Amino acid sequence: MSAPELQERTFLNLVKRRIAQKLGKGGATMAPTGKALGAGLIGAGNIARWAYVPRLQRKFPFHLAAVFDVNQAGAKEVAASTGAKACGSVEELVRDPAVEVVFICTPAAFHCDAALAALAAGKHVLCEKPMAATLAEAQRMLAAAEKSGKAHMVHFSYRFRPEFQFLAQLIQTGVIGRVYHVTGTFSQGKWFNENSEPSSERPDATPWKLGVDGGVAEDLGPHLVDLCRSCFGELTEVNAWKKSYRPGPFVSDDACGLSLSFANGAAAHVITSRLATGFKEHTSLEFSGSQGAIRFEHGEISLWTRSEPRWRTLLIPQNLGRDFLDSFHTAITNRDAKVPDFTDGLKNSEALEAIVRSAKAGATVKLPLT
Ligand SMILES: NC(=O)c1ccc[n+]([C@@H]2O[C@H](COP(=O)([O-])OP(=O)(O)OC[C@H]3O[C@@H](n4cnc5c(N)ncnc54)[C@H](O)[C@@H]3O)[C@@H](O)[C@H]2O)c1
Repeated sequence: MSAPELQERTFLNLVKRRIAQKLGKGGATMAPTGKALGAGLIGAGNIARWAYVPRLQRKFPFHLAAVFDVNQAGAKEVAASTGAKACGSVEELVRDPAVEVVFICTPAAFHCDAALAALAAGKHVLCEKPMAATLAEAQRMLAAAEKSGKAHMVHFSYRFRPEFQFLAQLIQTGVIGRVYHVTGTFSQGKWFNENSEPSSERPDATPWKLGVDGGVAEDLGPHLVDLCRSCFGELTEVNAWKKSYRPGPFVSDDACGLSLSFANGAAAHVITSRLATGFKEHTSLEFSGSQGAIRFEHGEISLWTRSEPRWRTLLIPQNLGRDFLDSFHTAITNRDAKVPDFTDGLKNSEALEAIVRSAKAGATVKLPLT
């Protein structure tokens, strides 16, 4: 092994040790054990088909017992390919004794009712992001989840990607010291053009993305807020603008500018957009701190520190990435396991609400809101 490779490995081992110390009990990666649980899927569209159904076909740690979609043809198609039962309503699905956990994959406007029904029926709930369409709904969902004693999680999918997990953990370990600020873009350019025509890459762009509740702040915003919370903790202030570049009749925001302040003193100045021309995904972030800096560019992470003042690209430990369904199963069987739960979902929804209020009023909004 060459000297630079050895140095790199020694450095990474140090970071890994610090990450392990920081995470402590329950935070470590755990493989799920025990029996496969019966799952009920509500909403059989895009995310259900590319993120859930292929995993459920593995049969462990969940097997698909039942599926419901208002589009009955979609539900029947998924049922036929998996051997699950196609249900005629949410109520039928949550009452089915074969269903022990419920996955909610509808647009956000339907998350709350589905979650309340599932929790009332005594089922564990994994809900897609954003947790709810409004802060009030998120509050009702958290209250119901806590009352039920069942496991709950929101699928902030970026948290499960090794590069984002490594980024957050690097910052938490203090490798760049006290973080001053992060600047950059957290965007996508793959969905549609400014005439609302779906791109050739994603002809499946769903209509709700063009509706009033489907703007980029509601769609990509939850991931960005969750990443920021993972890095810096709770927000204290939001200043936002939104812009729509497409003509009606369905106008939703295409770009959103955010200035965020955090309780730990860090600030973020980031654009999130769905019109990142030339890119499918465009995440480019620069973190500056008292002891160093981190550049995150399309999944690649570079570090500069005062003790080692040169930019070097870090190897991203792939074993940091956890499967989100495995993680949820672990959270059901071990309540100390850390997953983004409804408390995180509520904090996320509060930040989204602050973004909406700030953009509407053209003013800074302080958090917490209540
Ligand atoms: N975590 C991620 O990275 C990620 C990625 C994509 C989408 N999502 C989220 O997943 C959710 C769904 O997004 P999508 O892209 O799959 O949308 P989609 O439109 O492709 O699928 C939604 C499905 O829900 C069904 N549906 C609508 N209302 C319903 C109701 N009341 N009851 C039952 N079924 C209903 C629709 O018929 C459709 O089949 C959204 O909240 C979205 O933000 C998350």
